[in-house]
Amino acid sequence: MIDIRNLERSYKTGAGQTWVLRRIDLKIDRGEFVTLMGPSGAGKSSLLNAIALLDDQWLGEYYFDGDPVHAMGRKQRAELAKRSMGMVFQSYHLLDELTVAENIDLPLSYKNMPRAERQALVADTLDRFNIVGKKDLFPSQLSGGQQQLVGIARAVIHNPTLLLADEPTGNLHSEQAKEIMELFKELNRQGTTILQVTHSETNAAYGNRLLEVRDGWLVNDSSNPRLNAAQESTTR
Ligand SMILES: Nc1ncnc2c1ncn2[C@@H]1O[C@H](COP(=O)(O)OP(=O)(O)OP(=O)(O)O)[C@@H](O)[C@H]1O
Ligand SMILES: [Mg+2]
Repeated sequence: MIDIRNLERSYKTGAGQTWVLRRIDLKIDRGEFVTLMGPSGAGKSSLLNAIALLDDQWLGEYYFDGDPVHAMGRKQRAELAKRSMGMVFQSYHLLDELTVAENIDLPLSYKNMPRAERQALVADTLDRFNIVGKKDLFPSQLSGGQQQLVGIARAVIHNPTLLLADEPTGNLHSEQAKEIMELFKELNRQGTTILQVTHSETNAAYGNRLLEVRDGWLVNDSSNPRLNAAQESTTR
């Protein structure tokens, strides 16, 4: 599904250039549930944002289902993201002035879906996430865990093949976090490929593959034990 080769990302800073992602090679297959860990500032969000196509300032090659993202223009990338990806954020990123139902409906507004079908899909999704009773409330009237349920409902309503999550339980209590992780597990069981960033070992245990970044380098991949040794033997 994802094939990244030699991906790099840097920022222009006062002094010059700061590299935040270095020569990342990464393949993710359909159906995987991958966890990305590493210290604060290691480049986890930078990598996730590149994969999610929220960032386009990276270098290298990125194939999504065989299509070269690096060769796509802005519009094509946006279409790919809208069609195939859903993103969940630590701070939910819901629109405060929209109700729960309206927030969930948002990704569908980009599709040419008949009104009745759209309403039915929103109703189904509210039901599936157990938030029917909250549909006319605004995000500020929900608990953090409930807001994240809405965030996930919004991320998956268009049935993306890839779900990306950046510390999705970072602001939640452990009970709420568990609920979110169980939900991820179920979505993955139903076929959604997941890439999550987390600092939590408990959350990581829900996945079936662990990646580790440090100082912008991918230094460990549980599905590729040789990577670690290869990195250590290379002087850069
Ligand atoms: N807009 C920016 N300009 C300059 N440097 C940036 C910018 N955004 C991120 N960085 C730098 O990129 C590096 C990686 O940041 P990133 O947000 O990817 O880390 P992270 O692993 O997600 O950390 P955390 O666990 O704290 O979320 C950091 O050194 C950060 O300072
Ligand atoms: Mg981050």
